[in-house]
This record gives sequence, C-alpha cells and structure tokens, in this order.
Amino acid sequence: MPNHSATDGLQLQHALDRMDQPTALYKDGEHAVYWLGVPEDTAFRSNIYLIRDGGHGLLVDPGSRHLFEQVYRRVAQIMPPDSLAGMIICHQDPDVAASMGQWLTVNPAMKVLTTPRNQVLLPHYDPPAYEFYDVEANPEYRLPSGRSLRFIPAPFLHFPGAFTTYHAAARLLFSGDIWAAIDLDWQLVVSSFAEHIPALDLFHTEYMASNLAARGFVQRLDGLPIDAILPQHGSLIGPAMVPEALEYLRQLRCGTDIIYAGLDQP
Ligand SMILES: [Fe+2]
Ligand SMILES: [Fe+2]
Repeated sequence: MPNHSATDGLQLQHALDRMDQPTALYKDGEHAVYWLGVPEDTAFRSNIYLIRDGGHGLLVDPGSRHLFEQVYRRVAQIMPPDSLAGMIICHQDPDVAASMGQWLTVNPAMKVLTTPRNQVLLPHYDPPAYEFYDVEANPEYRLPSGRSLRFIPAPFLHFPGAFTTYHAAARLLFSGDIWAAIDLDWQLVVSSFAEHIPALDLFHTEYMASNLAARGFVQRLDGLPIDAILPQHGSLIGPAMVPEALEYLRQLRCGTDIIYAGLDQP
C-alpha cells in the first residue's frame, strides 16, 4: 500500500503556476500527477502533464517541438526522462504531438498510446520506430500500482479519432482540446466558470464539430465521478465547477450548428 500523508489527494487549491518547477496536481504516496507548465506567455497555451506511478511515467500530450527542452527539464525534476514508459496523444495536432520524435530519441522504448485514426497520421512527424498502444482495442491501461487509466472516445471533438483519458483513482479527466480555452489573462485553475465561458467559446465555437458530438460525449461520461478536468489549453477546472463544465458542453452550439444554421434538418 502507498504511504498516505496529509498532502495526499487532489491539490488544485494549492497548485502553484510556477514555471521553474513541476506543479503537483494530485498525490497519493508514490503516485502523482503533475502539470509541467510552458514557458511562453501566449493565449494558446499548451498544458502538458505527467502521470507518475512509482518508476512508471506517462506524458499526457507531450506538445510542440519547441517546448521539448522545457518539458524535458520539468520531467527531469521528477524522474529520469529516459525512463518514461509512454506518451498519451489525444489527437495528432502538432501542438499535442510534434515532439514525439524527440521523446522517442530520448527513449525508443516509449509506447505511443493513441487511437488508430491518430496513428495513421503520427508517422508524418517522421519519428523513429515505436510501439503503438491502441487505446480503442485496449481502453483500460493498468499501471504497475494497480491503478488504471480508461480511454474514452471523443469523436469529432475536434478530430474524428480524438479521445480523453480518465484517471479513476484520482477522478481526473485529461480532456485534450475539450474544455480548452484561449485566454491571455490566464491562471492555472478557473476561479469563476461564468467568467471563463468567453475563453471557452473562443475555442469551442470554431473547433468543435456540433452540439450532437458534444452531447454524445457528455453521455459517455455519465456516472463517472470527476473531481477535475485537465484540458490541453487554458485553465484547469476544479471540483466545484465540473457540473457547470458538463452543462456547458450540453448547451454548446458550435461548428456545423453555426456554419450551416440555415439548413433544414433532412
Ligand atoms: Fe487540436
Ligand atoms: Fe490543442
């Protein structure tokens, strides 16, 4: 059994958005989830995460090529970067996946956990050979401690092969571009969901396919306890605001709802 301490559990309230160290979002003995931060002050800020399960490390959405050095340094503050076991890639966009070749050069044994549709496109980044872990065929990933990750498809949000990762023990949802926000006035954790909506709208109305896709995804989450949503861009969403975040997706009008608003239903 892992050693529990007073600092175990979700720690979003105490999270620091310091750029010179990894920020622990969740801890339970030898198991932890970190936000690794990014160096640039941009409205389209990428969030990169590390799941550490003892000596087993998984990067979540490793990020762009130009972020590699920064992310490498952050990982090295936690565990040897060449010991990482894999990287989860929620879809093939360059802000998510372009550094995959750099990571595979650090450790060619890293698995790439993704969907077949993403896997078709990832070789276009010209990475060294790697082992593909198919998250559709194997939706449960068991960590050495016995904890597990569950991969939940998110079709057309925004890519057909997009998926999210649910960490059952920590009740965290790594949501990729879903609940991503574009905001210069950034803070690590959302403090007011109402004030966060314009930043969510900027991204979702343009990128997400339709209300049907959004509602369908929320239905897939039905019954899952979620304490925090960890998107690939913008602020993280803590426990008190998860219900509002789910309702935001249910109500979302986006993509084809807007572009083809004048067309009748068939
Ligand atoms: Fe994307
Ligand atoms: Fe993205």
